[in-house]
Amino acid sequence: MRRQLQTSVALVLAGSAFVVAAQTSASSPAPAPAAATAATATAATASAGTGKSVPIESKVAMCIGCHGIPGYQGTFPEVYKVPMIAGQNSKYLASALTAYAKGDRKHPTMRSIAQSLSDQDITELAGYYEKQAQVPAVAETVAPPADIKALLDKGACASCHGANFSKPIDGTYPKIAGQHPDYLYAALKAYQTEGNPYVGRGNAIMAAQVKQFSHAELKSLAKYLASLPGELRTVPQSKFR
Ligand code: HEC
Ligand code: HEC
Repeated sequence: MRRQLQTSVALVLAGSAFVVAAQTSASSPAPAPAAATAATATAATASAGTGKSVPIESKVAMCIGCHGIPGYQGTFPEVYKVPMIAGQNSKYLASALTAYAKGDRKHPTMRSIAQSLSDQDITELAGYYEKQAQVPAVAETVAPPADIKALLDKGACASCHGANFSKPIDGTYPKIAGQHPDYLYAALKAYQTEGNPYVGRGNAIMAAQVKQFSHAELKSLAKYLASLPGELRTVPQSKFR
């Protein structure tokens, strides 16, 4: 299939951890995280150490196999779409990459990719993706349905992520409006997960937020937030220039 040609970078990087969108629906088993980590660590030819001389294109080449393919899905720890990062705040992108590198975010594939990046790589990549999607700022959102409003109020979500969920009060906080619903749900659950070596996000702020919600409630929140107009995009890119 055409798609497989485009995704060869990702397949090389991720080994068996990722599949193309068309194939995912029936796949059940989570891949061995260790295998994914090893495959990525070998392939993600780090610019760490040599960061300064490496052009941004070759750094981005490590990312586009997943983040440059609309609808691309990861399979660990469940099947969900790879997050849209174009148009996201650069400070948040850098903070997320640093969290993967330090292990505060445990996702195995993103961990080994982030660990291969120097601080300068992270700063440059974050700046690149912030500017990659030039989307007009979204207007204030319409009032949510009553049941969703109750959940949003309970978590005071807008007090940090902004009234339209695209204007967070701090650059290190993410825009979440319009993000993929299955990714948002997986991310919210990850803040609830403790004591798993491969799944979880150790962020104190969000851990406190998600504690009060059931999975069903997190799913409803994710679905609503994803339905909003947002500033996040996946900008399609072909493999190498
Ligand atoms: C093999 C596929 C793959 C590759 C290659 C990849 N990513 Fe990711 N990325 C993912 C997945 C899946 C997630 C979600 C992980 C999670 O659930 O925490 C993610 C998450 C992220 C996040 C967090 C987004 C958010 O909203 O919190 C950032 C930032 C990111 N990736 C940047 C990059 C950069 C920069 C590169 C290249 C240096 C890259 N990724 C390469 C699959 C990939
Ligand atoms: C006190 C401020 C604060 C509040 C309140 C808050 N958040 Fe967050 N949120 C954050 C911060 C900071 C992060 C980034 C955490 C990290 O780096 O992993 C975040 C991350 C997220 C993410 C992950 C986004 C991504 O791209 O991976 C989602 C989804 C999210 N918040 C949804 C919510 C929802 C839904 C609520 C209400 C129930 C909420 N937040 C309330 C500050 C807040």
